Amino acid sequence: MRTLESLGDLRSQTVIVRCDLNVPLSDGQITDDGRIRASLTTIRELSARGARLVVISHLGRPGGVIDEQYSLRPVAARMGELLDTPVSFSDTLLGHDAEAARTGLSDGEVLVLENLRFHPEETSKDAQVRREFAEQLAQGADAFVSDGFGVVHRQQASVTELAQALPSAAGRLVEAELGVLKRLTEDARSPYTVVLGGSKVSDKLGVIDHLLKRVDTLLIGGGMLFTFLAAQGHDVGASLLEADQLDRVREYLAEAEERGVTIVLPTDVVVAQSFAADAAHLVVAADAIESSPFGETGLGLDIGPDTARRFAEIIRESATVFWNGPMGVFEMAAFAAGTRAVAEALTDTPGYSVVGGGDSAAAVRQLGFADSDFDHISTGGGASLEFLEGKSLPGLEVLA
Ligand code: 3PG
Repeated sequence: MRTLESLGDLRSQTVIVRCDLNVPLSDGQITDDGRIRASLTTIRELSARGARLVVISHLGRPGGVIDEQYSLRPVAARMGELLDTPVSFSDTLLGHDAEAARTGLSDGEVLVLENLRFHPEETSKDAQVRREFAEQLAQGADAFVSDGFGVVHRQQASVTELAQALPSAAGRLVEAELGVLKRLTEDARSPYTVVLGGSKVSDKLGVIDHLLKRVDTLLIGGGMLFTFLAAQGHDVGASLLEADQLDRVREYLAEAEERGVTIVLPTDVVVAQSFAADAAHLVVAADAIESSPFGETGLGLDIGPDTARRFAEIIRESATVFWNGPMGVFEMAAFAAGTRAVAEALTDTPGYSVVGGGDSAAAVRQLGFADSDFDHISTGGGASLEFLEGKSLPGLEVLA
């Protein structure tokens, strides 16, 4: 993979840097600036090398139209605070004003352009449309740096076609993320435990399939656990359930047994009668099938305390741990204990600990953990999962 060294002397060169600045926002405020912080290593290095930096990114999924709630303006402001230097912002991506902002840059200065996804061409399925859009973006630039690790699994104009339109290289974040993922796929020490959570089992089946060949233990929590419990014949009340995945989940459970991989499912869960922060809730043993502990309306919203203790013990005894997806609805204090227990165990384990994915990263920061508590917090949710699934990622292929 081409790295920043391959770009040579960058003094006075205009360099487009594709970052993933897709940060969570609430009422226009950034609630987790992890992805902005993660982009700074490359930006600082390029700036120190005298390049004139044009930073581009998507934010959310505005669907190809201008939608102010997805503006990158607050992100540019935050980047300026973190860099402790002014970062200018252009509220257009193309056209006269954006060009004037770009040509006004001096060596080492940083400009952030407005959201790529305000333009439908960015995510077009038509390669020619993406190519033409990338050529417009490339005008006036000398080089391209791909550093948006969270989007390297996307075939999108600013990820793939733009890398082909200019001399291009991977940034330091992409390099670092790949190093971690390679360690997890090629060089993971045993016992290797993967903790999977999040709401949708269908999003995780590919990675489960691949991981069954590599890991020793899979711990299953989050909304997806109810499809696993249902596949084993348990009653799950009104909990999240993907009925069309039951057969595949049963196949994976059987395959795990054949391969000697331990899939650990919760033995107790926290059940509430409604999806609300102050909903009455109780802990029930998930194996009390006959007594139908969920009732018709019970919603499982977190793993229970016994399960959390067991998961934590396994994590603490592992030499390698990868965690993707919260264990419960961590945004509500009553249902955050499972996620907190897993995060704590990852911070304690002497093994190599990696937190992967936007949701899990946001969860650990929201629960008060620091990035330095873990060996690595990945900025890529979908991207890291697809890498672990063994898929080839288009945004990396173009940098080969
Ligand atoms: C992410 O949040 O995983 C990345 O920013 C990619 O976003 P997307 O799933 O909308 O392409």
